[in-house]
Amino acid sequence: MSNRPRILVVDDEKSLRDSMRLLLKDRYDVQLAATGREAIGLIKARPVDLVLLDIRLPEIDGLEVLKIIKGIDDSIEVIMVTAVITVSKAVEALRLGAYDYITKPFDIAALTEQVGKLMEKRALLKENLSLRRLIEAGAQFEKIVGRSAAIRAVFKTIEDVAPSNSTVLVSGESGTGKELVARAIHNRSPRKEKLFVALNCAAIPENLLESELFGHEKGAYTGAADRQLGKFEIASGGTLFLDEVGSLPLPMQTKLLRALQEREIERIGGSRPVPVDVRIVAATNSDLKAAIKERRFREDLYYRLNVVPIQLPPLRERKGDIPLLAAHFLNKYNHEFGKKVRGLKKEVLDLLAAYDWPGNVRELENLIERLVVLSRNGGIEADKLPPEIRGEAPCPARSGGTRFRDAVRKFEADFIRQALDKAGGKKGKAARTLGIHRNTLLQLEKKLKIKDLS
Ligand SMILES: Nc1ncnc2c1ncn2[C@@H]1O[C@H](COP(=O)(O)OP(=O)(O)OP(=O)(O)O)[C@@H](O)[C@H]1O
Ligand SMILES: [Mg+2]
Repeated sequence: MSNRPRILVVDDEKSLRDSMRLLLKDRYDVQLAATGREAIGLIKARPVDLVLLDIRLPEIDGLEVLKIIKGIDDSIEVIMVTAVITVSKAVEALRLGAYDYITKPFDIAALTEQVGKLMEKRALLKENLSLRRLIEAGAQFEKIVGRSAAIRAVFKTIEDVAPSNSTVLVSGESGTGKELVARAIHNRSPRKEKLFVALNCAAIPENLLESELFGHEKGAYTGAADRQLGKFEIASGGTLFLDEVGSLPLPMQTKLLRALQEREIERIGGSRPVPVDVRIVAATNSDLKAAIKERRFREDLYYRLNVVPIQLPPLRERKGDIPLLAAHFLNKYNHEFGKKVRGLKKEVLDLLAAYDWPGNVRELENLIERLVVLSRNGGIEADKLPPEIRGEAPCPARSGGTRFRDAVRKFEADFIRQALDKAGGKKGKAARTLGIHRNTLLQLEKKLKIKDLS
């Protein structure tokens, strides 16, 4: 799908339409219409950025067409194309919201320049508005969007820890933004001009891990035709992101621990240690404490990594961020696919808020991307949402064999979370609306493991 700006040329003269197309087609997605009616049909079917509109058209007059276009979408730019005798009409067009007019016969260079500038301005405006708004509202930090108490605490920790060299362990369920956090730490650190190197410990076969991390010398083993640097050396001066660190096999954990303690590594087949200067950020979506108990993870390595812990809350514990995140992704994919899908209706937002998001922010992002791609124009209707979100099918992560007691607990937890949300996190107020004593609420929170109030 093209994300080039879309221009619609409306003129009853075929030769003019064709020459405009020739002029613009290299940089823009150009469509042609001979009449106002045709133009309106095309705009309704697929949003456009700019219309080059002839003033004198058969059937519906250019000025009428302009009014209709602005009625469909006020943000569509229109440049009128006019013969000298109709210039007075062009002035009227400006009053009706046209951006400018050009007179026939037109100057090719002037036209392309004018269109170029207008489209550039438009692209910038689209992008800046959303970014600026989010940042002004304190709802975006680096690329991380959110304004719940839980996510603001994460912003604060990142800000505090980034300038130091401290090792950070980011934990959280899949799709909660662990990699975004790691990158934010790097971008805010004095190491930002050097590399951010990521290694997914779960994705590399066990027999290649050591070489990936520490590199090898030429001839270190069969197939090692050249010396190859490992991620530790590649990241030198920068940040090494060890993703899914919990899946490192025990022998590699020992080697990693040694590298962190000694601040030097040994390439496979090497004869002397090489000093390394990297900042380590590790991430895990599994419970390392449990892994330690089961002797799958070294306790000493855990303490080496967990100098500064950052715990990312699952999306279901900060549902207050859902509208913001949804708007953010809507913007992102509108921009990426050159679409203009409008904001989400309350009915849709309510359904999004009621859902549990086992795949967290990634699941929400993927959903919005899909909705934007599939939406022809206009808004997103509730019936376009997948059944599990419309509440018609059980959530996949929980389907099958949900016991009565678990279902009740989930209901209780959701109910209490909603009350807390409405009360802005004030427990006394929430307890009153629930008709229970504050202490009962505290006990329930503990029993149901309700943590964050977004
Ligand atoms: N707070 C957020 N604001 C904006 N985008 C987010 C946020 N959290 C996550 N995302 C987006 O969601 C997707 C998943 O994020 P990320 O890859 O950082 O998750 P993760 O925790 O590393 O997941 P996994 O454990 O599956 O690797 C990315 O596209 C990321 O940009
Ligand atoms: Mg990740």
